[in-house]
Amino acid sequence: MPLNNAIDLSGRRILLTGAAGGIGAATARACATLGAAKLLLVDAASAKDSLEALCDELRDEGADVSAHIYDVSSRQDNADLIGNAGDIDAAVACAGICPLEEDWADDPEWDEVFHRVMDVNLLGPIHLARELIPRMAARGGGQIVMIGSIGGRMGGTSPIVQPHYIASKGGVHALIWWLAQRAAPQGVLVNGIAPGPIATAMTATTPYSKERYPLGRLGEPEEIAWPAAFLCSPAASYFSGSILDVNGGLFVG
Ligand SMILES: NC(=O)c1ccc[n+]([C@@H]2O[C@H](COP(=O)([O-])OP(=O)(O)OC[C@H]3O[C@@H](n4cnc5c(N)ncnc54)[C@H](O)[C@@H]3O)[C@@H](O)[C@H]2O)c1
Repeated sequence: MPLNNAIDLSGRRILLTGAAGGIGAATARACATLGAAKLLLVDAASAKDSLEALCDELRDEGADVSAHIYDVSSRQDNADLIGNAGDIDAAVACAGICPLEEDWADDPEWDEVFHRVMDVNLLGPIHLARELIPRMAARGGGQIVMIGSIGGRMGGTSPIVQPHYIASKGGVHALIWWLAQRAAPQGVLVNGIAPGPIATAMTATTPYSKERYPLGRLGEPEEIAWPAAFLCSPAASYFSGSILDVNGGLFVG
């Protein structure tokens, strides 16, 4: 294996979901900085303006990017993009939702919200993987990164984070392990990241006790983006079924 910069994405075509969000946009910027040949950036209709602004920003810096608006919980929309996008070398499943302050005992809407969280956070990555893995395998390999959560490791770090989110992220971790076992023999590496609390729109209204944190602060989106870009790179060629705990020491285990 050559010893020059292996965290180099030159020539790689990378798909990112949730690309207009805090961690997604930072990951898109990191991948562009590392020389990705093409970025396919996916987000929901509600994020159209910020996704287009991100695309403009990255194009101004010389990146080749395209914006794709769809709901990741739609199997058909995933299939339509992936089936027509040409070769994809790596993907980062970053789209996610974390509805707060619901009452699972008395709120009649709670079950509906549970299903929505599962559809976006868990079924979304499943749709992505089942479209991508056979195509990647047919080309000899690829890399898929799924964003889990410290919540899926230890049950959450804020009292208002709800069980549907925690269960969905625990499910993402189990999915990574399940997929990794089946995909690695085909050359497809499936890995994940379990971030601790990161300063994005998702956590903007969540009360966190920073004094509890070994580093005394939330993480920044870039602190997840670089590990995600690494897992898309040749430097991560022996990672399969790994979930990187990137949490500033909040959870160790
Ligand atoms: N911020 C944190 O503290 C934290 C911690 C652990 C894990 N995570 C995970 O990291 C990922 C990114 O979160 P973030 O903090 O950047 O949040 P964010 O809210 O800034 O970004 C999430 C993005 O996902 C998009 N999205 C939501 N539903 C979608 C759908 N159905 N289809 C397509 N796109 C959709 C949103 O529009 C948004 O752009 C999520 O999976 C989240 O669960 C975040």
